[in-house]
Formats: sequence, structure tokens, C-alpha cells
Amino acid sequence: MIRARVTIDPHFIVGPVNRRLFGSFVEHLGRCVYDGIYEPGHETADENGFRGDVVELVRELGVSAIRYPGGNFVSGYRWEDGVGPRDERPRRLELAWHSTETNQIGLDEFATWLELVDAELMYAVNLGTRGVLEALDVLEYANIPAGTALSDMRVANGHAEPHDVRMWCLGNEMDGPWQLGHSTAYEYGQLAAQTASAMRQIDPDLELVVCGSSGAQMPTFGEWERVVLEATYDNVDYISCHAYYEPQGDDYGSFLASAVNMDRFIEEVAATADHVKALKRSDKTMYISFDEWNVWYMTRYNEVDKITDIADWPVAPRLLEDSYSVMDAVVFGSLLISLIRHADRVTAASLAQLVNVIAPIMTEPGGPSWRQTTFFPFSITSRLARGVALELTLESPTYDTKQYGAAPLVDAVATHDPETGDIAVFVVNRSMTEEAAFDIDTRVLGDVEIVSAISVHDDDIHAANTLADRERVAPRENTSVRLGDASVDITLPPVSWTAISLRARV
Ligand code: AHR
Repeated sequence: MIRARVTIDPHFIVGPVNRRLFGSFVEHLGRCVYDGIYEPGHETADENGFRGDVVELVRELGVSAIRYPGGNFVSGYRWEDGVGPRDERPRRLELAWHSTETNQIGLDEFATWLELVDAELMYAVNLGTRGVLEALDVLEYANIPAGTALSDMRVANGHAEPHDVRMWCLGNEMDGPWQLGHSTAYEYGQLAAQTASAMRQIDPDLELVVCGSSGAQMPTFGEWERVVLEATYDNVDYISCHAYYEPQGDDYGSFLASAVNMDRFIEEVAATADHVKALKRSDKTMYISFDEWNVWYMTRYNEVDKITDIADWPVAPRLLEDSYSVMDAVVFGSLLISLIRHADRVTAASLAQLVNVIAPIMTEPGGPSWRQTTFFPFSITSRLARGVALELTLESPTYDTKQYGAAPLVDAVATHDPETGDIAVFVVNRSMTEEAAFDIDTRVLGDVEIVSAISVHDDDIHAANTLADRERVAPRENTSVRLGDASVDITLPPVSWTAISLRARV
């Protein structure tokens, strides 16, 4: 049996848990939009064609802000194709995923859908094949109340009120050779700086996200951030991070420790941003928008699913439809732990993606929808992580991983809501074989009450929810939790993620 322990002291605060940490991402990719959120004719669809069952699941997931419309898609996208009368919208070749885009959903429809799920729009402009003018155009269309050509066009299209988009991404993954318009850090930095300063002439309070690296493994990582931030520091608020994880063969030990890599990535980007802050003698802290993160079986996509036949680019093909196992959900939960642990720097994050495409929610055309295993750590963390993230003293044995060196077998983070006294502890046991006896030292908290303890675990770490068996995996109450003498003690099964909710009077 592994033994691990944390001490909780609400006086040691990392930073506020921003609700935007529980954001997600909807890209015009595969069946995320079409046959995902939008399926006219489905028995639950509303008058706009939005599936009601999906709306309910997205609300249950507890998503705060949604990045849209891409992703790689955005670098070939003309935003104006997706507004106005639907029967006049063009069909286009979509180069990022080799599909046909029908443009039946665009900015206005997506903003309408966001009202149903009660989430904020985070909009990405195309800086791959377009530039400053188009970014200004979509900003005018979206945010100016009326009285100009493009704002009046929005009103004429049936949206009298502006969408008032606060957060804007300046392109997507411009460091990636796969990106349409891929450029050097210097070229992109200049374009992003010009775009940011032009957008801020219209609204100085916009929150702008400049592209960081599309992964810490990129050869340009580190230098990319420095060069881009040197060009844009004064006019942007966030630099983005993207990271996807999958097991390499059967090296599950490294896979379970993926959050070690995420921790390091965040800390290295923050250090680079602080270096530029010093060079600029700036008072401003650059925040991180971790606006793509997830488990993604990318090898499967590259080797099996990629559409290569140019003669037939389908509408809404089944792409990136990964089925997530219990082990994937445990890794996923540990990535959330890493994001919350860095709440002082990571103030926005987007789970990539939301429906059907590497997603917590799956749908079948004309059929049901269901929760993947990853749905559970997200919905539970979004519900319980309130107030501030706490600095924890964690004692855990480590194990050796091939990819990341020594990693703690047990990892945890805690939040405290000073208004309610609620404390949430999120903890992962990475051992493949052993249970962990996990103690939460509550001496500083005084009287503590256990509200709940829920684990995601299964004896079969490969178990998943599928169309044929939609409720195979569900989170379960962890009945081992006990109130000790100035501690809360719980047993964590091997390969498990657990959320413990406590109430304290401090
Ligand atoms: O989320 C899938 C893809 O991953 C996005 O389009 C892109 O930005 C990233 O490479």
C-alpha cells in the first residue's frame, strides 16, 4: 500500500480559480458542429436545429467559455461565409481536415447556441491566410451595436444586440508546419502585434490571446514565445499553450504522469513571459490561456483516419472520434489538477474539444448522446473547484517514468471557497497495481465535515462508454473515506481519480 499525505492550509493561496479554466472548444471539424451540436431533424432539436440532449449534457458538464471556430480550421476560414441567409452561403473546400464546409453554422448561430448552454464566446480570427482587415471586420460585425456597414449587416441578419465577444485569439498554432500560413515567430509576431493594436483601437478592453507553441515538443518552443511576446507584449493579455497526450505503446507509466509534462510546460512558458516582462521593464503579468488540452490518440488519426483522397472531401466525416477509457479519464483528471495548481498564471483553458471530436460528449445521428469517461472529472471539478487554489504540501513516493523521470505516485490539488468554507481536494493515484492510503491533514481547518468523495476507477482500466454500452463507466462514491483525528483519510484504488468535498469553519 502506498502512503501519501497533504496538509491543507487555506492561508496559503496560489490564486483565484477563474471560471474560464473550465472552458472548451468547438471547431468546424468532423462531427463537432454538424451532427454534434447541430442536427435539424433530430427528435430533440429546437427550431434552430440544435440538439436538446447535447445542450443538456453541455450544461451538466459545466463549461464556461467556448473557443470557436478553430483550431486549424480557422486558418482557411472566411467568417463572412457563415453569416446571412443560409441558402446563399457557399460550400467550401476545407483544407485543414480535407472536408467540405457547408457554412450552415456561423458566428450568429453559434452565439445563439451559447446562450442555450450559458457559456461565453471566445473567438479566433484567421491570421493564417488573412490579416488585420478581416480581424477588424469580424470585430465590427460582432461587437459594434449598430450604425456601420458590418454591424448593420448583423442587425439585418436578425441579431439586434451585439455579441460582445471579450476574448479573441490571434490565429491558431502559427508555429506548426501543418498550419495554413505557417510562419516564423518573427513574421507571426509582427502580424499579431499589428492586429492586436488595430483591434484595440476599436476596443481597448478586449482580451487578446497570442499564439504560443502548439506543444512543448516543438523545435521552436521557448524561442517562439520569446520572439512573439517581444513583438506583442504591450497589446496582448495571454499567450496560449496547447498539449495533447497519448500512451506510447504500452508505456502507461509515462502516460499516467502526463501532468508532470504539463506542469513543466506551464512553468517554462511563464518563465519565458517573465523574461520578456523584464526586458520590457513592464509591470504587466502575461497570463496563459491553455486553450487546447486533452488526451488525443493522434497516432490513430495520422495513421488511420486522415482523409487523403482529394476527389471526395466529405461533409462532417467521422474524424478524431476517440473512445476514452478509465485510464484516459484518470490522466485527464490529473491534467485538470495541473491547470488548477497554476491558477495564478493559467486563467483560461479550453478542453479540446466538446462534442464527437476528441470529446467528453458523443452523439449518434438520429440516435442517442452519451458521456465519455472524461466527462466525469471535468463536470465534477467544474462543480467543486470554487474560490481559490491552495498551495499544498504533498508527500508522496515517486516512480520512474521513461518520458518524464521521477513522478509522484499520488498527485493532488485543493481549492477553498472562503465564502462557503467549502474545500475540494482532487487527487490521482498513478500506481498501476497498488492502492494508496491518502491522508488530508486538516489540523488548521478545525471542525471538518465530509460532504462527498467520488472516484473514477474500474478494475478494467480500458473500460469505456460506447454507443452499445453507454453507461458502462460512471463515477462512484468512495466509501472508504473517514474522518480521523484532525485528518480525512481515504483509500485510492490503483489508476484512479478522486474528488473529496469537505466543509470547514475557518
Ligand atoms: O483539436 C484538434 C486540432 O489540434 C486543432 O484544430 C489544432 O489547433 C490542434 O493541432
